[in-house]
Formats: sequence, structure tokens, C-alpha cells
Amino acid sequence: MRFCKGLASFVVAGAMTALCTGWAGAQEFTCYDNAAKSMTAKIVGGTRVRGDNYPWIVNLDIGNDGYKNCGGTLVAPDLVVTAAHCVNRDPSASNYTVRRTQDDGFWKGETSSVREVVVHPDYDPERSTNDIALLKLSTSMSVAPARLPRLLSDANKDYWAKPGHCAQVIGWGTTSSGGSATEYLESVYVPIWKNLECNAAIGDINRAMMCAGYVGGGYDSCQGDSGGPLIIEGGATGTILAGVVSWGYGCAEPNQPGVYARVSEFEAWIRANY
Ligand code: ARG
Repeated sequence: MRFCKGLASFVVAGAMTALCTGWAGAQEFTCYDNAAKSMTAKIVGGTRVRGDNYPWIVNLDIGNDGYKNCGGTLVAPDLVVTAAHCVNRDPSASNYTVRRTQDDGFWKGETSSVREVVVHPDYDPERSTNDIALLKLSTSMSVAPARLPRLLSDANKDYWAKPGHCAQVIGWGTTSSGGSATEYLESVYVPIWKNLECNAAIGDINRAMMCAGYVGGGYDSCQGDSGGPLIIEGGATGTILAGVVSWGYGCAEPNQPGVYARVSEFEAWIRANY
């Protein structure tokens, strides 16, 4: 079954450089950090990470009820990129609290209220197309602008978001489909697929999406990670926000990669709406 609605949070990650070996189609590559994960790994197939390495990840409390419902990414001290499906049901800015991670990864860090919710005008809930939204914050978060992720642009997408490269997804979502969300930040590395291969595997993939995961399953984002970041370490370019957790059939199932909104398709829209 296809899950798009989020409950909790999650994701995965390692602080190490993601390294892929032997790519020859999605089958044959391994993102090495996962191999080093401990047996107590959470997220789907991930590891716990410190928050101070990811000071720009946030969680969304929808309804101000003290729970986290989705992830998000600060791309400016007062601007969060998240998924449209996280916020389209409730356009009222006053109903949201955004929380940054604590240094140790616990989910209840610095908070801000939201002054404006901007859902992508072409978001299509039926197909999960253009599943991206912006939250303009009432107060700037205390993250140095130099540490914030860059947006993946159309110009550099084929260099950084190539099929066969690894990306990293982080969040506080569930560690299995239908499981419990975590209170501490988790991370996992996943190979990027060709859209053509992803469409052959699960269908309904268009250019505003990108897919990442293993053919054999085992490593993925999951419910509650929605809206959170799929990132690429861009060397001197720094951290690049490549994708936004959007949807998938179950979590970490064989031949069912996770689907992400492809940020390079929305770079201009994000800049125009900030
Ligand atoms: N829609 C889910 C959420 O609300 C995210 C699902 C991601 N699924 C996956 N298999 N990667 O949290």
C-alpha cells in the first residue's frame, strides 16, 4: 500500500562521507556507511546521529499538540522546505510549531511559530506531484547561514544527483512501516535511481520526483520522515538539499525505492517565494 500521510518522524544518517562502489544499475551498489551500522540501528536500516551535525533539520508539529508529524529543512534561518502533503490540509500558519533538533539529536530543540504556509500551486495530491511547500518562520532559527544546505539546482543536478551516487536521508520517522517514530535523529544512506528504472519498478514517477533505495530493500525513509531532507555531500559546495521525503510503497521493501520531490525542479520557485 502506498503511504503518504505522516505520523511521526525519522530518518537516518552517518556522519561519514557516503561512498558508492561498483555501480552498474541500481542492483550493484552499496553506500558504505550502512555497512558500518550497529545492530541497534533504527530508522529503516539507519543509525542514530548527533543533531549538531545537522543543525538545519527540523520537525513540524501540526496542530501545536506537542507531537512531531513531519520533517523539514531550513534553507534560510527563517525558511523551511517541507512536503506539500504535510501541510496542505491545514493552510493556517498559526497551527504549526517548527522545532530544530537538539545537539544530541533529541527532537525538542529551538522552536518557532510560522507566519506563512506556501504550498506549491501545482501540488497534485492524487499523484503526489510537486510535493513541496515552504514555511516562513516568525523568528529566525540560530543556525549560521554558512552551515545551511544549498538547493540542488538544475545546472548541477546531473553532477551531484546522478543515478549511482549515494544520498543521505535523515529524520525522526518510524523504523519500520507501521512502527514507532524515534525521539533521536536517525540517518541512512541510499543509492539514487534513474527515474526510468524507478518508474519501471513502481510507476507514477515524473521529472519532479527522484527515487533512492536498494533493490534488495532494507534501507529507507518511512512514515514521519515526510518533508525531511534527502541530502548529498557536495565537497567544497557543502551539503546539498537534493530531495524532500514524499512517498513510497511501505518502507524499505525490495524493489520499492523511496520517492522524493526533486529539489532541482523547484529551486527557482523556492527562491521566488522567499
Ligand atoms: N509519506 C510518508 C510520510 O508522511 C513518507 C513515506 C516515505 N516512504 C518511503 N518508503 N520512503 O512520512
